[in-house]
Amino acid sequence: MNGDKTWKIERFESLTSTNDYVKEKRWKKENLIVIARSQTGGRGTKGRSFSSEKGGIYLSVLTHYQDLCASDAFRIMQGAAAAVCETLYSFGLTPKIKWPNDIFVNGKKICGILIENTFSGKNVASSVVGIGLNVCNRLPKELSLIATSMHAESSKACSVEEVEERLLANLTETGIENKYETYLGFMGEEVTLILGEERILATLLFVDERGNLVARTAEGEKRFSSAEVSLRIKGENVCV
Ligand code: BTN
Repeated sequence: MNGDKTWKIERFESLTSTNDYVKEKRWKKENLIVIARSQTGGRGTKGRSFSSEKGGIYLSVLTHYQDLCASDAFRIMQGAAAAVCETLYSFGLTPKIKWPNDIFVNGKKICGILIENTFSGKNVASSVVGIGLNVCNRLPKELSLIATSMHAESSKACSVEEVEERLLANLTETGIENKYETYLGFMGEEVTLILGEERILATLLFVDERGNLVARTAEGEKRFSSAEVSLRIKGENVCV
């Protein structure tokens, strides 16, 4: 989806948040990739903060679209998650996507993705794909049970620069979104679905072309959007 575009790349030692930085550049109508060695105010999904110490990769990809229908916006998420997984796989790791777009290795989160789109009528006008990948950064103690890094999972040493180069190549590759399915994990497994205060046991079935999760619950097969539900896999630790 991104292969035919021209990219401007900007690098920084530190930024508050690469997503916030590129959002301010939207008016320029350039496709832009911004990378920071660390962030002082890294943002995660659902208003959470994202630990962003030196040693990780923190980047945002700002893309402008001419004719991407809003109903196909899930392809943006698919492309980002698949690009991260391809990168991790090429460094000898076995990544799995926890729907919609958390990347896990050996039961722990290694990468988070925050997507912020703008729309024009029925189309996506622009997207900001923010990726935070733990390479050899120190993880805060309170995250030690739920998060991991490439350094912790791999016997081979890898540098941030090497990983970054591979990730950029994958992010800008045409058709990368088609590899989402390959890495989609936990299908067929029993999980807990969290809908506000409600907890539902369900078996994951598949993800439809709009990005909705289809799961078998006690009340039959149901479809959930990522806005209404989050999922907890068996044995997954949570931050309290
Ligand atoms: C999540 O797992 O909750 C999503 C985390 C996304 C973090 C990345 S790091 C680069 C970009 N800038 C931000 O402030 N957030 C995203």
